[in-house]
Amino acid sequence: LALVVAACSEGSTGGSGEQKTDDKPIVIKFSHVTSIDSVKGKAAERFAELVAEKTGGKAKVEVYPSSQLYGDNDELDALVSGNVHMIAPSVTKMVKLDPRWQYVDMPFLFENQAHAQKFFESDVAKSLLNSDKLAGNDIMGLVFWENGFKHFTNNKHQLQKPEDFKGLKFRAQAGKVLEAQFNALGAGSATISFGETYAALQQGTVDGQENTYNNIDTQKYQEVQKYMTLSEHGRLDYAVFVNKPFWDKMPEDIRTQVGEALKEATELEWQLAADENAASLENIKKSGKVEVLELTDEERTAIAEALDPVYDEFGETITSELIDGIRNLK
Ligand code: LMR
Repeated sequence: LALVVAACSEGSTGGSGEQKTDDKPIVIKFSHVTSIDSVKGKAAERFAELVAEKTGGKAKVEVYPSSQLYGDNDELDALVSGNVHMIAPSVTKMVKLDPRWQYVDMPFLFENQAHAQKFFESDVAKSLLNSDKLAGNDIMGLVFWENGFKHFTNNKHQLQKPEDFKGLKFRAQAGKVLEAQFNALGAGSATISFGETYAALQQGTVDGQENTYNNIDTQKYQEVQKYMTLSEHGRLDYAVFVNKPFWDKMPEDIRTQVGEALKEATELEWQLAADENAASLENIKKSGKVEVLELTDEERTAIAEALDPVYDEFGETITSELIDGIRNLK
């Protein structure tokens, strides 16, 4: 977690631009789209507690979960304009500013959780967090938060072979890579914000979606989906982004304490990602509402092969530096 520490010692160290702390606490508005009991929701709450403890109340994190302040369509703009100070979006939603963030959607790129975590601490990952493209929009990434592997759910039939996807329509988070993924399987897709996905599944606007066990469970998709395939075909992970002028203006001692709180919350978040996803899979199974299919190695390989064209189409956009950089961390 060297990234946080590095970012916290940067920025202005005083002067007239500094925020005042003598009377009122510095309020850090942190907006996100998942529920309060999700991996991200729990980590954000813990971060807020840690900030209060470490700054002795001089800074206060106000967490706005469940898209109640900003949803997928406006939280990034709100961060750029400084209406909110921190967000932790699923990284693919950063496609608006830098298409390389869709690395996360490249099919079967990550082997396991340890591989994803190795990436979070790598130089290629740092190059995304600190890119000129983000800085040019007054934002910067501080650290990666994890969720986990995605799995397909749908309402029509079990998805076991590439052909089974034909003609179905899936909800996608954002970007062209996910669209290409579904196209490669003969399926269609629609970009739908997280806050509107439950209703879209319930009303049949789409037949299915892909998400982590914990997002499926905390959004109660098991109520509106009949089949789940344990595919682990792609990842859903987060990064914590700040509005840079806001961050730079924070008095240095407070910024350092907030950085320490973030470092501790991040360690917890990574642990939560593993524990909560495992618990959510059990919940989904226990609900008895979803038929769960485990794939054999051969079945997974057949789906992976069907998704190979996504690399031909998007390898250059994502860059070989990232794709090979991630593969070499295995
Ligand atoms: C989604 O839109 O499915 C996820 O990005 C939601 C989230 O933040 O985990």
